[in-house]
Amino acid sequence: MAKDKNWWKNKIAYQIYPRSFCDANGDGTGDLLGIVSKLDYLHDLGIDIVWLCPVYRSPMDDGGYDIADYYDIDPIFGKKEDMDLLIKEADKRGIKILMDLVLNHCSDEHPWFKKALADSDSEEASYFWFRESHGCPPNNWRSMFGGSAWENVGGDRWYLHLFSKKQPDLNWENPKLRQKLYDMINYWLDKGLGGFRIDAITHIKKEPTLSSLPPDDPDGMVGCFAPTRNYPGIGDLLTELRQNTFDKYTCMTVAEAAGVPYADLGIYIGEDGYFDTLFDFTYSELYNWGHGWHTCKKPWEWPIKNLRDKMFASQIETAKVGFGAVYFENHDYPRACAKFLPDEYVNGTSQKMLGTLFFFLRGIPFIYQGQELGMTNPTFDSIDEVNDISTKNHYRIALADGLTPEQAIKAVNRYSRDNARVPFPWNSGKNGGFTTGKPWLKVHNDYKKFNAEDEAKDIDSVLSYYKKMIKLRKSAEYNLTLTYGDVEPILLEHEDVIAYIRGGEKRIAVICSFCPDTKDVKLPFGGFDTLLSNLDDTVSDNGTLTLRPFECKVLLIKG
Ligand code: GLC
Repeated sequence: MAKDKNWWKNKIAYQIYPRSFCDANGDGTGDLLGIVSKLDYLHDLGIDIVWLCPVYRSPMDDGGYDIADYYDIDPIFGKKEDMDLLIKEADKRGIKILMDLVLNHCSDEHPWFKKALADSDSEEASYFWFRESHGCPPNNWRSMFGGSAWENVGGDRWYLHLFSKKQPDLNWENPKLRQKLYDMINYWLDKGLGGFRIDAITHIKKEPTLSSLPPDDPDGMVGCFAPTRNYPGIGDLLTELRQNTFDKYTCMTVAEAAGVPYADLGIYIGEDGYFDTLFDFTYSELYNWGHGWHTCKKPWEWPIKNLRDKMFASQIETAKVGFGAVYFENHDYPRACAKFLPDEYVNGTSQKMLGTLFFFLRGIPFIYQGQELGMTNPTFDSIDEVNDISTKNHYRIALADGLTPEQAIKAVNRYSRDNARVPFPWNSGKNGGFTTGKPWLKVHNDYKKFNAEDEAKDIDSVLSYYKKMIKLRKSAEYNLTLTYGDVEPILLEHEDVIAYIRGGEKRIAVICSFCPDTKDVKLPFGGFDTLLSNLDDTVSDNGTLTLRPFECKVLLIKG
C-alpha cells in the first residue's frame, strides 16, 4: 500500500514537557504513566499528535537533551514498558507520539564518551570532536549556553560541545557513528512511533578546520553559528539520515532547524526534503539578547509590525515549497504573552487573541502544554528556584555585569525557559494536582486562577476557547480551507492589527487587534458570518469593523 506522506497535515499537535505534565508516582516529577492518565484530556481537547520532550536515560543536565542511553527510558519517567504502553494507549485514541531525537550531541555520561575519555585510541574517541591544544581551547568558539565551546579533559586534550559541557558534540563525519544512530532511530520507529521532533539538527556539520574567527564580543569569543549552523555539506548527511531511517516508515518528522535560509527551504521540506516540516524561528525569536538577557529590549517595545512582517514572510516563503509547523510557545521560551503583549494587558481576551493569531495560520499548529490554559510566566523570587542551565548562565552574566540579584532575577522572570517548564496545573488543589509529592520545580503562583479542571467548567475560559478553535479547524466544512488555503495578509495599513485571509474553496478572514483602544478597520470584503471571536458580538457597519481592545475575529467571507 502506498504510504500517505501527508497524514499529519490536517492534524493538531501538542507538545509535552514530561517532567512537568503529570506525576503518577508521587515523586515530584512528571512521568510516562502520568501522561497515559491524561490521554483522555488530550483527546477531548482534539489533539492528534503529541511531541514528547526527551524521556531517554539522562543525567538531566539540560532537561534530558543530554542522553546517556538512547535505547532506555530514564527512571524518573518510568520504564521502557511505560513508553510502549503510552504509544499503544495513544494509538487507541487516534493520537500519534513523536519522540524528541537528539542527534547533534549526547551526554558525557554516555558509554561512548566514557570509553572515548578512557582511551584516546578507541573507536568511540572518533565519535566525538577531540583536539589537542596547549594551555587554551583549540579555537575561540562560544557555546550556546555561554563560555568556551571546548572542555579540557586533562593535558592538552579538549572536546567540542556547542551546548553544555555535559553535551559533547557527536562527530557526524564518522560513518560508523552514523550507522549506530540510524539503527537507534529505526528501533524506535519499529515500535509504531508517529515520528520525531529533531533537535538542533542544523548543527551536525562543522567547519572542518575548526578555525578561530574574529571575536564578536570583548570576551574574545565568537558565537558558533557561522561555523556550525547549516554548514555546507550538511545536505549529504541529512539525505543519508533520511534514506536510512524516515523514508522506510510513514512517520512524520519536524525539525528544529534554526537558520535555514528561505532559499534553502525547499531542500529541507520540499517534496523530497530532508524532513516533513520544520519550526521556523524567525518570527518567534524577535529579540536580540546581545550580551545577556538583562541587556535585551523589552519585548513589547518592538512594533507589532515586526512580528507581522516576519510571520507573513515565513508563511509566504514556506507555502512556496512545503508545509510549516506553526507555534508561539515551546519549552525553550517564556510564555508568548510575556513576549508579545504588554504586561498590563495580559488577560483572557488578549490570550485568546494571541492563540487565534497563530492557530489559523497555514501549517500544522503545535500547542505547548499550558498554552491552552492561558498560562503566564510565574514569578521566581530567587535563582535557587530555577533549574534551567541556560538561565543560570544568563543570571551569572548579569551579576558579572554588576547587576544586583534583584535586578538579575527580573530578567530571569521575563526570559527564562523555566517560565514554561513549571508544573501543569490540573486543578486548584495542592500543587495544582500535578503531584502528591514535592514538585521538582515550583508550581505557578496563579494555579488557582488557571487550571484545567476549573477552566473546563467555564465556557468563557481560554481552555474552552482553544477547544472551539480546534473544533473549527477540524470541522468538515472548514478543514480543507484552514489546512491548505493560502494566506493573504490584509489590513496592512494598521500597524497594530495582524490580519489575513485563508483562501481556497472557502475564504476565511482572521483579524487580531493588538490595540489597547477601540479602533475601526475598513474590511476589504463585503458580507461575512462570524465563525469565532474572543468577544461576544461583532460590531460592524457598512464595511467597517469596530475592534475593541485585543479583539479577534474569525470570519467566513460571503460571496
Ligand atoms: C534544543 C532544545 C533545547 C536544548 C538544546 C540542546 O534547542 O529545544 O531545549 O537545550 O536543543 O539540546
